[in-house]
Amino acid sequence: MSDIRKKLKLAILISGRGSNMMTIHKSCQDPDFPAEIALVLSNRPDAGGLAYAKDHNIPTEVVDHKEFSSRDEFEAEMHNRIEPYKPDLIILAGFLRILNAPFVKKWPNRILNIHPSLLPEYKGLNTHARAINDGKTESGCTVHYVVPELDSGQTIIQKRVPIFNDDTPETLEKRVLEQEHIAYPEAIKLVANNILSE
Ligand code: GAR
Repeated sequence: MSDIRKKLKLAILISGRGSNMMTIHKSCQDPDFPAEIALVLSNRPDAGGLAYAKDHNIPTEVVDHKEFSSRDEFEAEMHNRIEPYKPDLIILAGFLRILNAPFVKKWPNRILNIHPSLLPEYKGLNTHARAINDGKTESGCTVHYVVPELDSGQTIIQKRVPIFNDDTPETLEKRVLEQEHIAYPEAIKLVANNILSE
């Protein structure tokens, strides 16, 4: 029997440096990885990750949220720009805009996010400072499905790291980010293999 397997197409949404996008791109170079990047879209024209995507011949789109008077109009334009690439999964990788229900419901169980905390703890912003201020001894990251409620969808993978007494938000961010770079490719592989075997 032929062993040629389809690869799922990813649309990766970023707002900044895009280190998670880069690590996913590296995983996609493995012939056995069940996904490939069809598009990198940024809501910020100056996002550092866009240069990496262009250098690696990955198609890019920019939809600047500042050019829209409402979130619904911004998201409708994002949908229009994503749709032609026919992605199987939308990967939020440091995409720092909240997505409204109409957008999320267009891609049921097809949007993944990575969040720098052990959800359900520390939804939202400034996760590392909040964990340190609360005297926590452990933090981590969570890859989860996106639902209309912020940072609330089903968890796919979590990775844990210790918090040390002398940690600052910056040192903790670095430790968690290393785990994000392991967790996101693992989670995509898991979800993609599930979809491919449906
Ligand atoms: C990552 O730490 C990611 O978990 C976080 O933004 C960073 C993006 O880094 N996302 C959120 O806080 C979402 N609420 P990157 O641009 O280098 O991938």
